[in-house]
Amino acid sequence: MTGTFDISIQKIAKSKVSEYDVNNVPFGKCFSDHMFVAEYSDGKWQKAYIMPYQNVPMSYAISSLHYGQAIFEGMKAYKNEKGEVSLFRPTENFKRLNKSAIRMAMPEVPEEIFMGGLFELLRLDSAWVPTSETGSLYIRPFLISTDEAIGVKASDTYKFIIITCPAGKYYSEPIKVLVETNYIRAVKGGIGFVKAAGNYGRSLYPTKLAQQKGYQQVIWTDSETHQYVEESGTMNLMFVIGDTVVTPGLGDTILAGITRDSVLTLARDWGMRVEERKISIIELIEAHEKGLLREAFGCGTAATIAQIVGIGYNGKDYPLPPVEERKFSTKVDEVLRNIRKGKAEDKFKWMMKVD
Ligand SMILES: Cc1ncc(COP(=O)(O)O)c(C=O)c1O
Repeated sequence: MTGTFDISIQKIAKSKVSEYDVNNVPFGKCFSDHMFVAEYSDGKWQKAYIMPYQNVPMSYAISSLHYGQAIFEGMKAYKNEKGEVSLFRPTENFKRLNKSAIRMAMPEVPEEIFMGGLFELLRLDSAWVPTSETGSLYIRPFLISTDEAIGVKASDTYKFIIITCPAGKYYSEPIKVLVETNYIRAVKGGIGFVKAAGNYGRSLYPTKLAQQKGYQQVIWTDSETHQYVEESGTMNLMFVIGDTVVTPGLGDTILAGITRDSVLTLARDWGMRVEERKISIIELIEAHEKGLLREAFGCGTAATIAQIVGIGYNGKDYPLPPVEERKFSTKVDEVLRNIRKGKAEDKFKWMMKVD
């Protein structure tokens, strides 16, 4: 797909890909050859270009650094056995970026810039997409305010940038999570439903405290009563209670995950009962005591499925059934991996090929 917006391209003199084993690099620290940049000023998108990945000189006064007018997306590209590169549901990321932009008083990014830039970048850097079974190229589109001005107001200038980095092999360790009943991630009327930078900064301290107690992540609860579970870390939460897949219903405190939607779509397609609703901790504990809480997992682009093997609440740990017994999430994980790698029928037309 090529956009109608003109994208000028300055290629790197010599690719750096041969310096790395893209199937074995640490995640998030090694960036591909090129980056895409689009600039906004005077009320419109002015120009778009691809250039070698580099540090961009900018003022320390730019508003995004001070007031957090900064949003991002996270998505992945996959390579099949024929070496073809495809993206998983990229238009959903495009739509969500603009939902975030509206909420943060930022200009929306036109589809031809988002998709045009993304596809052009992937064509140039396709050698960076890992070939390993669980590998992918992680893609980070982000939009930042760039006014050089100290003063709290919506910026007049912005940059939309896309950078990518290989995620070689991905194995997600099962996690123990702590139900957080003091700190909060999101409030009604707030920005929990969008991918604004501030949501992540604020989550680090409670997560650090939970990690000091031996948990890998927190389960965020509602800000008013702390009785209902919302998300875990940067993942949506899913449970299998009896034979029903249950997940917190969406609202302005929960990010509408694309993996969440994919998991629910598969569950419904397989004839399972699905409920999107409020889930109290008490309900989970009671289901656990009756032996009905069969599965608990987080889902998101990074890990796809992160199995939750224990939940800590009120000073007590509740161990959950062994991962080997979890039929639904294991199947979902495998089916999604196969769809992405072109090994299973893409019934819902989720993959978009970069040709
Ligand atoms: C807070 C939060 N919840 C859920 C998700 C999962 O969303 P997705 O499946 O679109 O990656 C993410 C990751 O983007 C997230 O940051």
